[in-house]
Amino acid sequence: MQVFHHIQSLRDALAVERKAGKRIGFVPTMGNLHSAHIELVKIAQRNCDVVVTSIFVNPLQFGLNEDWDKYPRTLAADSAKLEAANCDYLFCPNDKEIYPNGMSEQTRVIVPTMTDVLCGASRPGHFEGVTTVVTKLFNIVQPDEAVFGVKDFQQLAVIRRMVEDLCIPIKIVAGEIVREADGLAMSSRNGFITADERPRVAQLNRTLNWIKQQVEQGNRDFGGLVETAKEQIQASGFKVDYVNISNSRTLEMAAHDDKEITILGAMYTQGARLIDNVSVVLG
Ligand code: PAJ
Repeated sequence: MQVFHHIQSLRDALAVERKAGKRIGFVPTMGNLHSAHIELVKIAQRNCDVVVTSIFVNPLQFGLNEDWDKYPRTLAADSAKLEAANCDYLFCPNDKEIYPNGMSEQTRVIVPTMTDVLCGASRPGHFEGVTTVVTKLFNIVQPDEAVFGVKDFQQLAVIRRMVEDLCIPIKIVAGEIVREADGLAMSSRNGFITADERPRVAQLNRTLNWIKQQVEQGNRDFGGLVETAKEQIQASGFKVDYVNISNSRTLEMAAHDDKEITILGAMYTQGARLIDNVSVVLG
C-alpha cells in the first residue's frame, strides 16, 4: 500500500492509474478503523481496480464542545489493517493540507433542509463540515465510486443529495451496518463506552427494532411509538437525543402511507453520543 500525506503526490499516482484505464474506488474515513470500515474497502474492491482510503479527522465537522481533540488517532494500527485488506492507497493529510487558508476562510458546501433535522439539529454545522470535506476529498481523489456506511444514514442521504444537486460524476455506494454480537453498531466512539454501560447500550438497537416490528405489524401511531421508544432508552440509563420515524429518502417525518421508512435514533452515554438506524420497506 502506498501512503500519501500530500494532495499533489496522490494526484500524480492516481493520474497514472486513470491513464491505464483503472476504475478508482474511494473510502473516506476519520480513522480508528474497525471491521465496518474494512467492509467498505472490500465493497470498493469488488467494483474497482484500485482503492483509496482516506484518514482525516476533519475539524470542520466537529462542534466546539465536541470530541475532536479526543477522537482516537491510531494511524499505525489503521495502516496495518488497510495493508492486510490489500488497500492500494492511503491518503492521510494534515489540517494544513486540507485547509491551507484556515477553516474560517474555507469555501463551504451546504445541503439545505435535510441537514437541519436529526443529527443536524443537535450538531449545528456538522453536515456543512462533512459535505465540504467530502467535496474536497472527491476533487482530490476523483474516484469513479465512493463507499459510505448506512450506519450514518443521514450522512449518506446528504452526500447522495449533494452529488445529485452538484452533478458530481461519482457513483455513491452504500455499505450495510456492521454490528457487534449484541446489535451495537460498530463505531470509533464505542471505545468511549464505560464497562458499566456496555451491557446496556444495545438498547438503542433493540428499541429501533421494536419500532420496526410494530410498523411492520401495521401500527401507525408514530407519535406513540416514538414516546414509548424514548422511555425504553431512558429506562436503560441513557439520555435520548432523538428517535424519529422518517421517510427514507427525504428524512422528513414519515407519512402513514409511506412505503420506505427508516427509524433513526441517537442517545448519549457518559462519554459518547451513539447513533443507529433500521429501515423498513412495506409491501
Ligand atoms: P467515519 O466515522 O470514520 O466513518 C467512515 C465511514 O465508515 C462512513 O461512511 C461510515 O458510515 C462508515 N461506518 C462507520 N461505522 C460503520 C458501521 N458500523 N457499519 C457500516 N458503516 C460504518 O463518517 C465519517 O467518518 C466522516 O464523516 C467522513 C465521511 C469521513 C467525512 O469526514
